[in-house]
Amino acid sequence: MYAILLLLSILWLNDSAVAKVCTNITVPVSISARNAVFNLSPLQSNLDAATFTRNYTSIKANFTETTLTGYDTIHGDFNISAKFCRPGVTGSTFNSKNGTVQLLTHGIGFDKTYWDLSYNNYNYSYTDVAVDQYGFSTLSHDRLGVGNSSHPEDALNIVQASAEVEILLELTKMLREGTLPGINSAFSKVVHIGHSFGSVQSYTLASKYPDMTNGLILQGFSNNGSWFPATFAAWNSKLARFNEPLRFGNISAPEVQKLASKRKTVQFVNHTEKTLDVSPYEIEEIIEGTSTANLLAGIDSRPAMVPQDLPTGYMTWADASANQYSFLYPGYFDPGLLPFAEAHKFPYTTGEILTILGGPATAPEFTGPVQIMTGGKSLFFFLPLLLCLQTATYNLRSEPLKHAFLVPFFFPGAEQDNIFCGGDCFATGQPDVSSIPATADSAFPKASAFEAYIQPNTGHAVNVHYNSTAAFRVMQDFLVKHGLGGA
Ligand SMILES: *[C@@H]1O[C@H](CO)[C@@H](O)[C@H](O)[C@H]1NC(C)=O
Ligand SMILES: *[C@@H]1O[C@H](CO)[C@@H](O)[C@H](O)[C@H]1NC(C)=O
Ligand SMILES: *[C@@H]1O[C@H](CO)[C@@H](O)[C@H](O)[C@H]1NC(C)=O
Ligand SMILES: *[C@@H]1O[C@H](CO)[C@@H](O)[C@H](O)[C@H]1NC(C)=O
Ligand SMILES: *[C@@H]1O[C@H](CO)[C@@H](O)[C@H](O)[C@H]1NC(C)=O
Ligand SMILES: *[C@@H]1O[C@H](CO)[C@@H](O)[C@H](O)[C@H]1NC(C)=O
Ligand SMILES: *[C@@H]1O[C@H](CO)[C@@H](O)[C@H](O)[C@H]1NC(C)=O
Ligand SMILES: *[C@@H]1O[C@H](CO)[C@@H](O)[C@H](O)[C@H]1NC(C)=O
Ligand SMILES: *[C@@H]1O[C@H](CO)[C@@H](O)[C@H](O)[C@H]1NC(C)=O
Ligand SMILES: *[C@@H]1O[C@H](CO)[C@@H](O)[C@H](O)[C@H]1NC(C)=O
Ligand SMILES: *[C@@H]1O[C@H](CO)[C@@H](O)[C@H](O)[C@H]1NC(C)=O
Repeated sequence: MYAILLLLSILWLNDSAVAKVCTNITVPVSISARNAVFNLSPLQSNLDAATFTRNYTSIKANFTETTLTGYDTIHGDFNISAKFCRPGVTGSTFNSKNGTVQLLTHGIGFDKTYWDLSYNNYNYSYTDVAVDQYGFSTLSHDRLGVGNSSHPEDALNIVQASAEVEILLELTKMLREGTLPGINSAFSKVVHIGHSFGSVQSYTLASKYPDMTNGLILQGFSNNGSWFPATFAAWNSKLARFNEPLRFGNISAPEVQKLASKRKTVQFVNHTEKTLDVSPYEIEEIIEGTSTANLLAGIDSRPAMVPQDLPTGYMTWADASANQYSFLYPGYFDPGLLPFAEAHKFPYTTGEILTILGGPATAPEFTGPVQIMTGGKSLFFFLPLLLCLQTATYNLRSEPLKHAFLVPFFFPGAEQDNIFCGGDCFATGQPDVSSIPATADSAFPKASAFEAYIQPNTGHAVNVHYNSTAAFRVMQDFLVKHGLGGA
């Protein structure tokens, strides 16, 4: 009886919680970083990007090593665009507790909104779960070169993993000291949560500066980078300024201006009936397959942004197919999320690609808890139930949807995290090793706890799958369990 009352009161408290309070900030950051110096001419064309890909994936030599000429300490002043959120309670109550802050670092191809996706009325928002349901504060930021953060001209020798780790360190210090512009709180506990390349950076920070972080959650991560070259090849990289001229191109260029003016006036004309023998579904497929064709057709529903005129060393994957291949597990995401993610994709640089696998092998002095949260295998034992459900709904589904639902049944366990697990996190080849992410255990000899959690039915980008909020709760529960709860 008491237990029931207690449960009811907890539910009531949760329901009555005031929504999170967020602030957009621009943080000036000065860093010094030991960057690699690479000898490579700036990419000038999409064909150069193809050559770069060929060089990078060739088995002939390690291209990072053949282009490396040495190391140099670079100094940089950058603006970092960030979003701070805290629980919706009064300022004074908040300052008396402050709690734990989560410093969130997105991966390649996303910006800080990975943690607070607006899609489907914020139904996939990580921060809604962390802040509103668990009382954490969060700071998400656009990594260097991405979104509204600075876009250095030198994409090769400035925008590299080590520079970004130093930026992460500066943000961490500001949270601890209470010097983040516009944010009147100091936090004694900062946990670092990353996705993919953001996990690589959080992990590197824990290795280089073990006292600066109280806990790590590495989403979409393992310490086995063997499959990254195959992933990079699948991206079929293009120069960002050519692939997305209205977001990343040169607005002074007459061609881009022409596109921009078209965008405002040209409406999509539906020729389906008269001229072309293609279904609306096929049209959608074609549009999703090529961003530039999307623009030319005049059907670009994205809000206009000022084209960023990104230098030529900024690349992006070719299209939505490459996006799905790397990030999504077919059948387990809302089909509308793919075009959404593709329309909001962000670039990566030559310098990042050459340094993404160059992090430290271990984090020997880090003493906090570590959770790896990576997308994994389908639940085989649910198969009969799901097959029944599918048969029952067979006639109700439209053609494309039916397709999406069939895929996982015929290839159970065939996809999942392609980048860090090669498509199957359980294929360790060793009976005593439970999963590929679990092998990272040995990288954290002093960690107070280590858990490799394989989230079912999920690809590399955990946050954009149907069951993502359940994964978010597993992440929060891990922090709470290890004494790093919110306010
Ligand atoms: C922060 O910036 C985002 C993106 O520009 C915008 O949608 C949002 O309304 C802003 N939030 C606040 C609190 O100003
Ligand atoms: C590719 O590799 C060749 C041989 O090392 C080099 O000369 C060339 O500059 C590289 N090009 C790109 C775009 O990576
Ligand atoms: C940061 O932004 C401010 C305001 O827009 C601008 O004055 C300053 O030059 C920027 N700093 C850098 C390093 O880009
Ligand atoms: C969010 O997702 C839940 C569960 O998938 C669903 O019940 C709810 O209707 C969704 N809400 C919105 C706003 O889409
Ligand atoms: C960048 O900032 C501008 C102005 O504050 C805002 O309109 C835009 O949405 C922001 N873009 C991104 C990618 O955050
Ligand atoms: C919370 O932040 C305020 C303002 O920076 C600081 O004075 C206070 O000591 C912090 N409280 C805790 C418990 O850390
Ligand atoms: C942008 O376009 C203008 C006009 O064609 C040109 O003068 C300028 O050099 C271009 N900038 C870049 C970085 O290509
Ligand atoms: C195009 O026209 C066909 C035939 O009238 C219609 O079925 C289809 O829904 C239309 N497609 C779009 C995207 O409007
Ligand atoms: C290639 O060389 C770099 C620099 O020595 C190293 O960090 C990286 O792990 C190597 N990559 C592979 C796939 O061996
Ligand atoms: C990566 O995982 C595969 C499959 O478990 C294994 O064969 C390979 O040795 C691992 N590589 C590294 C560098 O751990
Ligand atoms: C959703 O995720 C939770 C947390 O990992 C898991 O327990 C549950 O089985 C998942 N549900 C499905 C249908 O995969």
